Amino acid sequence: MGKLLEVNNLSISFTQYVQGLNRHDLKVISDLSLDIEESEIVAVLGSSGSGKSLLAHTILGILPYNAHVTGEVKYKGEVLDQDKKEKIRGKEICLIPQSVNFLDPLMKVSQQAVGECKDDDERKEKKLKQREVFAKYGLDESVDDLYPFELSGGMARKVLLSTALLNDPDLLIADEPTPGLDSKSVEETIQDIRKLKEQGKGVLLITHEIDVALKTADRIAIFYSGYVIEINKVENFLNSENLLHPYTKALVDALPRNGFKLTEGVQPLEEVSGCPYYENCPISSDKCANNKPELIEHNGAMIRCFNFNKAVSEDSVSEEVVDGVVSEAPVEDSVSEEVIEEPITEEIAEEVNDEEANDGA
Ligand SMILES: Nc1ncnc2c1ncn2[C@@H]1O[C@H](COP(=O)(O)OP(=O)(O)OP(=O)(O)O)[C@@H](O)[C@H]1O
Ligand code: SF4
Ligand SMILES: [Mg+2]
Repeated sequence: MGKLLEVNNLSISFTQYVQGLNRHDLKVISDLSLDIEESEIVAVLGSSGSGKSLLAHTILGILPYNAHVTGEVKYKGEVLDQDKKEKIRGKEICLIPQSVNFLDPLMKVSQQAVGECKDDDERKEKKLKQREVFAKYGLDESVDDLYPFELSGGMARKVLLSTALLNDPDLLIADEPTPGLDSKSVEETIQDIRKLKEQGKGVLLITHEIDVALKTADRIAIFYSGYVIEINKVENFLNSENLLHPYTKALVDALPRNGFKLTEGVQPLEEVSGCPYYENCPISSDKCANNKPELIEHNGAMIRCFNFNKAVSEDSVSEEVVDGVVSEAPVEDSVSEEVIEEPITEEIAEEVNDEEANDGA
């Protein structure tokens, strides 16, 4: 199977002016590498402000004008410059945007979903498909003629989702597609994303919701402070012992039985001289203080840590480690022995195992 998308050594920074004319470079993504194969769903999981949407916007060429970017994005083996990104955007690569502000406020939603058509035949065909997809997400005919301001938040999300699926892209970038949706629509979304995979398409699924990532993805990439610190197969997230980075392990160990959530709030964005996780790391060594680990391959996973093969003992899982991992339960509860012993609900584990069995069938 070929690689659909490759992001190599991507870094993004913004110039800020502080106290008048003092320039300050704010680095938000550092040396990020990630790839997606045909028939693969890769989830990106990271707390708010860790650069997930910026990654999506880089691939599509819609970054804000003040962003400084280095690194490359390849699609089907070809480096994408801005012109190429504009040509394939909305066709071969589609985005389900995180913000409903991406909808054109002056256009009826069905017109936006159908988009540009070369002739009347294509318009008729796309209109029929649009109605079918809208209906599947519970949007009846009266919604077709509404303007975005007349939609509820959940309806607007469904319109964005339907619009992206209607274009039948080879690569779908879904930036937080599920918040605000009822549980039936969340399931529909997961099914539709998995259907794309069955058709040989690729999906980059950006989410805060680890249960959505676990049910949907083949691999999960963990963002921490603008770095990808680990990319691992979804089945390895069922048991933290199979994971490599101490932050990823702590994340999985701290999951409450219900309501899996990553931290809200912004992770440290100031550039540090050593490993970005040094301050909180239970297995750090002197080397980590002033040297940056590279993202390297290990047994089919990618890991950014000098000491990943050192086990984290339960004693060393302190409150400090789970700082930055906010669950709905209080922090102390989230590292109770009970949770450490049983980090993922049986329900999710069964669903992941069923899906693996189906995939292998
Ligand atoms: N135009 C801009 N100028 C300066 N900083 C920006 C700009 N756009 C984004 N940022 C900063 O870049 C960081 C990453 O933003 P991004 O929107 O990618 O985060 P995210 O991981 O998608 O967060 P969330 O989960 O809340 O959607 C944030 O700290 C944000 O403030
Ligand atoms: S490189 Fe060092 S500080 Fe960073 S996560 Fe690994 S052990 Fe911890
Ligand atoms: Mg975002």
